[in-house]
Amino acid sequence: MRETQAIIERVRRISPDLQQIDLSTDASLSQLQPGQSLFAHVLENTQYTPYLREQWYPIAVGAARVVVELPPRQRYHPGQVVSVLTPVGRPLPMRTGARHVLLIVHDTPPTPLILLAHQLIAAEVAVTLVLSGNALRYPLELLPPQIEIIHGDTGWAWPEQVQTLGWADQVIALAPPYAQFETYGALYETIGQLRAGAIPDGFALGLFDQPLACGTGACQACQVACHGGDMLACVDGPAIDLKRVRFR
Ligand code: FES
Repeated sequence: MRETQAIIERVRRISPDLQQIDLSTDASLSQLQPGQSLFAHVLENTQYTPYLREQWYPIAVGAARVVVELPPRQRYHPGQVVSVLTPVGRPLPMRTGARHVLLIVHDTPPTPLILLAHQLIAAEVAVTLVLSGNALRYPLELLPPQIEIIHGDTGWAWPEQVQTLGWADQVIALAPPYAQFETYGALYETIGQLRAGAIPDGFALGLFDQPLACGTGACQACQVACHGGDMLACVDGPAIDLKRVRFR
């Protein structure tokens, strides 16, 4: 992880819940992979100076340019300088040869999975995105039209659940921090019931996206209880193989 600076070039409100910010960045940030994020702190022209940095997920990465998506609790302006530590976390561990990927998002914006969805579509991988609860407030017109969108219900069930879990080569779930253990545990149990044989390593991932204190593995505040030793959401995640997670 290294520190660099970015400059806010443009701010757009894309929904009542989200804003997108274009950042002019160091060229090294073009190496960011889906799942990795920026640990950001605005340096100038702001009255808002939180002690802790904020985690910003990129939704698009280009040459010396990164677009992030954030809730609108803070107003940003072109010209503001941002200190960023990057990268936070590991790239999402995708299974080799996966041709059908199922993304499931409940009650939180799908932002941490948007960059992945774009890259999968560009690689001609079939993507199905199940959205439920507050995730349905996301402006769906901004997503690639090739993505199949399914509206789920509040109980982590959705139409054609058996078929979609059956054909998927990989499943990646995203829930808000308060619901992660409960919902990922139930999802993993459902997958186990529907699929014959053992669930392969890396088949079902859960994103442990949560507020981070240090973001560097130093404070241990983001521990996820796992078989074989606890993991840290900030340096081992955000995606953790649900096969490893100790749900009980
Ligand atoms: S946020 Fe400090 S160890 Fe993860």
